[in-house]
Amino acid sequence: MPTTQIPRTYRVKSFGCQMNVYDGERMAELLAEQGITAAPEGEEADLVVLNTCHIRERAAEKVYSDIGRLKRGDGSTPLIAVAGCVAQAEGDEIMKRSPAVKMVVGPQAYHRLPEMIRVASEGKRVTDTDMPAETKFDALPRRRRSGPTAFLTVQEGCDKFCTYCVVPYTRGAEVSRPHADLIDEAKRLVDAGAREITLLGQNVNAWYGEDAKGRKVGLDGLIRELADIPDLARIRYTTSHPNDMTDALIAAHGEVAKLMPFLHLPVQAGNDRVLKAMNRSHTAESYLEILDRVRAVRPDIALSGDFIVGFPGETDAEFEDTLRLVDAVGYAQCFSFKYSPRAGTPAATMDDQIAPAVMDERLQRLQAAVNRDQYAFNKASVGRTCEVLVERKGKLPGQWLGKSPWLQSVHFIGEATVGDVVTVELIEAGGNSLSAKVLSSVPA
Ligand code: SAH
Ligand code: SF4
Ligand code: F3S
Repeated sequence: MPTTQIPRTYRVKSFGCQMNVYDGERMAELLAEQGITAAPEGEEADLVVLNTCHIRERAAEKVYSDIGRLKRGDGSTPLIAVAGCVAQAEGDEIMKRSPAVKMVVGPQAYHRLPEMIRVASEGKRVTDTDMPAETKFDALPRRRRSGPTAFLTVQEGCDKFCTYCVVPYTRGAEVSRPHADLIDEAKRLVDAGAREITLLGQNVNAWYGEDAKGRKVGLDGLIRELADIPDLARIRYTTSHPNDMTDALIAAHGEVAKLMPFLHLPVQAGNDRVLKAMNRSHTAESYLEILDRVRAVRPDIALSGDFIVGFPGETDAEFEDTLRLVDAVGYAQCFSFKYSPRAGTPAATMDDQIAPAVMDERLQRLQAAVNRDQYAFNKASVGRTCEVLVERKGKLPGQWLGKSPWLQSVHFIGEATVGDVVTVELIEAGGNSLSAKVLSSVPA
């Protein structure tokens, strides 16, 4: 495509967290509104948006290799925009290193993409990593399409400044979207076919707002109001921070039937000295105490967490405390990562950076423990009767895939369609999924 032409087709590739997935969907809607259409599978797009993540090393490297892969035989490329957190953190560097990149747009500025595309189509390169006062959400088109499960970003940014983390720098300060906008967007998503909404935020439980009656509400209040939307079957939220786990939110887990029994509550480490060096402002004990309170109101809650192994200075004995915490909790699933030094964060220049081989060994031990617990959780679910929200067809004839209330992947053979909530009995457990037998189906 000559660069003097507005692109006709686009492709958005999102990496990283669910908030990036949400942003990617919104960018696609924005491009579609400009009359640019999604490139069919397998065909080259005129415009490629790489919606990037900067949380760990390899994420940024992946962007550069993706840019390389977009090169055609004659050395030309489609129009490339780098969006997301790498754009925010390393925009200038990318512009220098990759001449093929024509646009760099930060996570708070992507509503300005249409104008940037016009400029780039004239052959100019353009960077916008502002965190403008006007919010992108006000400038984005209204939502028209949704699958059975939808993401809804309610909160962005982070004020916590954990010493290892780039998010406060790439996403900016904590901002809550207005209550009325969220109710409106949720209703539109449900009208467009969503049966489940996952509320998203870097610290989703720090969300606060004012309801229609002018009362101050926290995330629990928003969840209660969303639960009144008749065709919405399920509500989830992620990622929450232990310090924002209020009594009211915990109580909602015991009272709101549509709020699914699943809590992703990252802890990062099981040793208090390490947690302090991470600036986590909670201890292992205060974390476990929160889980006890959630379990008291919702005994079947499935728990999930994030862990970092090999934070600077972490000793073998301190790492053992992480394994002990894992044993004490019995997680249904977990994400665990090797510490990755991020330029500009305090931990990157701390003494006693841990050798890669030590990190590898710790990660393996942690993952073995977590996999053991995940399998045990799935095994303990066998025999349970539960509802499954059907998300898509499986590979076998008549097979359907969906999720249990505890976010387990479930497959069954039977009569159903996407978006149905089907009552099943879980009959067999694997490490990553369960098979089920249909007891009855409730039409969508
Ligand atoms: N706001 C969320 C998580 C955001 S990032 C929270 O605080 O829980 C998602 C996960 O990536 C983090 O929970 C952490 O486990 C991991 N992570 C963040 N920075 C990292 C780094 N520098 N190295 C390795 N893992 C990291
Ligand atoms: Fe990063 Fe900590 Fe903020 Fe989570 S709470 S986004 S880990 S700084
Ligand atoms: Fe990655 Fe940015 Fe999300 S760094 S994890 S895309 S907030």
